[in-house]
Amino acid sequence: MNSSILAVLYIFFGITWWFLALTCDLPLTVLLILSTNFISAFFSWSYATFLEQFVKNIIDVARKKTFQILAENIEDRNSLVPLEVLEIGVGHGPNLKFYPEKCKLTILDKNKFFEKFFSNNKKKYPHISYQKTIIQPAEQMKGIEDNSFDVVVSTFLHCSCDDSVAVLRKVKRVLKPVSERFPLYFIFNNYILYIPPFI
Ligand SMILES: C[S@@+](CC[C@H](N)C(=O)[O-])C[C@H]1O[C@@H](n2cnc3c(N)ncnc32)[C@H](O)[C@@H]1O
Repeated sequence: MNSSILAVLYIFFGITWWFLALTCDLPLTVLLILSTNFISAFFSWSYATFLEQFVKNIIDVARKKTFQILAENIEDRNSLVPLEVLEIGVGHGPNLKFYPEKCKLTILDKNKFFEKFFSNNKKKYPHISYQKTIIQPAEQMKGIEDNSFDVVVSTFLHCSCDDSVAVLRKVKRVLKPVSERFPLYFIFNNYILYIPPFI
């Protein structure tokens, strides 16, 4: 699309957005400004019910690629031993459909309002052995033991977390040592990042 048409559309939607926010949506705008709980509830509802659906076709490409990389890396594992997985910034669980068989899944998200959307969604995937939900920022990961997961999965988290380096440090802490069963790796959108020793 021509860039001047895009610019006009951008300005038009911007003005419409602000017009609505300051007129009929004013109560919503005030609540969003005043209450962080309301922001979290509104974000989880809008992301789980329509925002993610809207961009699903585009971002599912990255999700597929992510789990394809995982599948390739676990090809020669003992398939009888469950894979211990931690997914951080799990949201309502749009990645669940890509999980391999024999996974023990722990999830973490800082937004407690995603929990009910995740609980509904997980019922569709009985092949995943859900362990527990941890509500806290991934920068902390308190109460998660060192060296306790084979894989940490994360998609579209780092665009919204406060401190990516702190998250990577915690990921490194909770991943099992390199030598044990798998190389130390972290799935980051559609890339595997080998965590450098200085983190
Ligand atoms: C854009 S959504 C992505 C959800 C899902 N991973 C996906 O691929 O669609 C970002 C998610 O990360 C969570 N999140 C953002 N910052 C976080 C942090 N610092 N620690 C834990 N979760 C966080 C949000 O609550 C939200 O569920």
